[in-house]
Amino acid sequence: MRIVMIGSGYVGLVSGACFAHFGHDVTCVDKDREKIARLDRGEMPIYEPGLDKLVSDNVEAGRLKFTVDLVGPVSTADAVFIAVGTPTRRGDGHADLSYVYAAAAEIAAAMRDYTVVVTKSTVPVGTGREVARIIREAQPAAEFDVASNPEFLREGAAIEDFMKPDRVVIGVESQRAREVMATVYRPLNLIQTPMVFTNIETAEVTKYAGNAFLATKITFINEIADLCEKVGADVHDVARGIGLDGRIGRKFLHPGPGFGGSCFPKDTLALAYTAREADAPQTIVEQVIEVNNARKKRMAQKVIDFCGGSVSGLKIGVLGVTFKPDTDDMRDAPSLDIVPALMAAGATIVAFDPEGMKEAARMLPGIAFAKTAYEVASGADVLVVITEWPEFRGLDPRRLKEAMRQPRIVDLRNIFNPDEMRGLGFAYEGVGRPGPST
Ligand SMILES: NC(=O)c1ccc[n+]([C@@H]2O[C@H](COP(=O)([O-])OP(=O)(O)OC[C@H]3O[C@@H](n4cnc5c(N)ncnc54)[C@H](O)[C@@H]3O)[C@@H](O)[C@H]2O)c1
Repeated sequence: MRIVMIGSGYVGLVSGACFAHFGHDVTCVDKDREKIARLDRGEMPIYEPGLDKLVSDNVEAGRLKFTVDLVGPVSTADAVFIAVGTPTRRGDGHADLSYVYAAAAEIAAAMRDYTVVVTKSTVPVGTGREVARIIREAQPAAEFDVASNPEFLREGAAIEDFMKPDRVVIGVESQRAREVMATVYRPLNLIQTPMVFTNIETAEVTKYAGNAFLATKITFINEIADLCEKVGADVHDVARGIGLDGRIGRKFLHPGPGFGGSCFPKDTLALAYTAREADAPQTIVEQVIEVNNARKKRMAQKVIDFCGGSVSGLKIGVLGVTFKPDTDDMRDAPSLDIVPALMAAGATIVAFDPEGMKEAARMLPGIAFAKTAYEVASGADVLVVITEWPEFRGLDPRRLKEAMRQPRIVDLRNIFNPDEMRGLGFAYEGVGRPGPST
């Protein structure tokens, strides 16, 4: 199969490299010349574990190419995937579909023989139909089908998720397009990955319903964590106690500072918007958005309260700034709410993140960066854990304590054991855990 990915970001690049690994002939296109130049030099524009090797292996095998010009590759493609961004539109919370529609118009101008045009970007219901309309209008005689193939990969585990997904959802409406999509995913079919073939609208709704459900689960356990803090219960045991119920499941029951990232915040907003437009308001999802936004804002106050009501003049060491571990992605990260609020309250911030500091320097002006987690602790009045990078779990608390001016930790990801930390003389506060708060 000849496949073209339009957009070579987290989704386009990972999917393109994985399709090449499946044996397809893949061209990844991006408008960003700098990104394509870096890829041509063998440099990864994003941090994703294993991606550099997957890309270089497939480039060497001649199955993966990069370009800024879609015309040639699209003219001979069997399937063209749109994997451009769909950020929140300013003002109303709807998904900004301008990149998707611009890509559709460019594809329409370049298409020759029968092509399946697939939206892999997360797009509100109705977008597939609009993509078809744009192509039909630009090229009335074109032979094509549109399909919806939402992507469920998680940053940080993207390759594994793509190669061994729980399921593949494909919205198609012709037998011919279904056959093309079945061939694209044949290697996954061979390992018995469930393939959910539906109509286009269903596939589009499925992606949003999935993300909204996961965001709801996180928000639910976060509110339960608040209750635990007030009544002396331990949210970890509660999560285990309910998660072992197969109807509930153990995943996404980890309390924290509120969900962020490139998907949940914008996708919950877009779903709420689309649903209101369709006169089927998603009141649960609307509440989740509100509760989560308030939570992210409240986390700085949690640190301030823990420090006795003021952080003015204090040096705060921040561990982790990305929205989750194993990515350099800072989009809608909780740190973007917490750090500026602490600075506004008079604190000086020193942060360390294994992969996110370059992006954070741009998005969090005025903070200093350290080279290691221990350096962050040096002279700090309090440490705040915002992202649960695996390497933070292995930190030696004694070394941290020696380095700090005051041994105090607000652990917004519960990576440390409260009893152990308090036993070592730390003032420790986690999320939803019992015990003294100072
Ligand atoms: N990041 C994730 O974890 C994830 C997971 C599942 C789904 N998604 C969805 O996938 C889509 C892409 O997300 P992402 O995180 O990869 O975004 P991204 O911002 O990392 O990448 C998008 C890329 O598209 C390029 N682009 C935009 N218009 C273009 C055009 N006309 N031609 C060529 N290139 C163009 C941009 O330059 C950019 O490099 C979004 O809809 C997102 O919601 C993302």
